Amino acid sequence: MIFESHAHYDDKQFDFDRDELLSSMQSSGIGRIINVGSDYDACKSTMDLAHQYDFIYGAVGIHPSDIQDLNEEVYKWLKETASDPKTAAIGEIGLDYYWEKDSEVQSRQRFWFSRQMELAREVSLPVIIHSREAAEDTLKLMKGIHADQIPGVVHCYSYSPELAEEYVKMGYYIGIGGVVTFKNAKKLKETVKRIPLERILLETDCPYLSPEPNRGKRNSSLNLPYVAEEIAVLRGISQQEVIDAAYENALQLFTKVK
Ligand code: NI
Repeated sequence: MIFESHAHYDDKQFDFDRDELLSSMQSSGIGRIINVGSDYDACKSTMDLAHQYDFIYGAVGIHPSDIQDLNEEVYKWLKETASDPKTAAIGEIGLDYYWEKDSEVQSRQRFWFSRQMELAREVSLPVIIHSREAAEDTLKLMKGIHADQIPGVVHCYSYSPELAEEYVKMGYYIGIGGVVTFKNAKKLKETVKRIPLERILLETDCPYLSPEPNRGKRNSSLNLPYVAEEIAVLRGISQQEVIDAAYENALQLFTKVK
C-alpha cells in the first residue's frame, strides 16, 4: 500500500468526482492519505474529509500565501482542532517568496510561520513545511527556533541536494512528488540519490504537479506509482522497496495515523 503524504482533495478541481475518486483509493493501493489545509476554509474542508473517510487524516495550518486568513481567533481554532483524533500534522506552513515579493508581507509570513511552528511544538504534532524561493530564511528561522526538536517534512522539496542533507541532519523528512519525473529536474534527482531512503516520503500535492506521463493533467494519488518508480530507478532498488519504505517513514512521522 502507498502512503500519500500530501494531497488537497478539498480543491474545487475535485468537486465533480471527489467521492467517487476517494472511494476508489483503497482498492487502487492507496492505503493512507494526509489531506493538507492551505487557507482557513481548506482546513475546515480537510477535517470534514478526515471525518468522512477512515483512511484520510488531516493537517491543519495556514499556507504562507494565505496568511491574510490568520488572526488570534483562527490560531485558537487551529490549536483546538489539533487535538482532534484525525489531525495528524500542522501544515502546510512556511515561506513563499515566489508568489510574494513585498518585504513587509514576507516578514508577516515569517511571523506566522514561527507561531505555527511553536503551535506544533505545543500540541506535539509534526509539521508540513512549504518553502519556495526562501531557502535561506526558512533555514535561518528554523535554526533560530530549534526546529530540530519539532518533527516534520519539507514538502515538494525544490532546493539543492546539499540543503536537503542539512534538513535530514535536523531530523526532517523530504517530500518527493511528480517533479522528480520531469527530465529537467536534475537537482531533485540528485537529492533523491543522496538522502537516506529512511527520510523519503511520497506525495502528490494534487491536484497540482502530475508526474510524467500525465504531466499537465489533474493529479491524484493514483499517480504515485510513477513517482515511486522514478525514485526506484534513481536509487537502483525496486519500486516496491520505495513504496514500503515511504509507508514506514510516514508512520514514523505521523504518529497519530493508525
Ligand atoms: Ni500543498
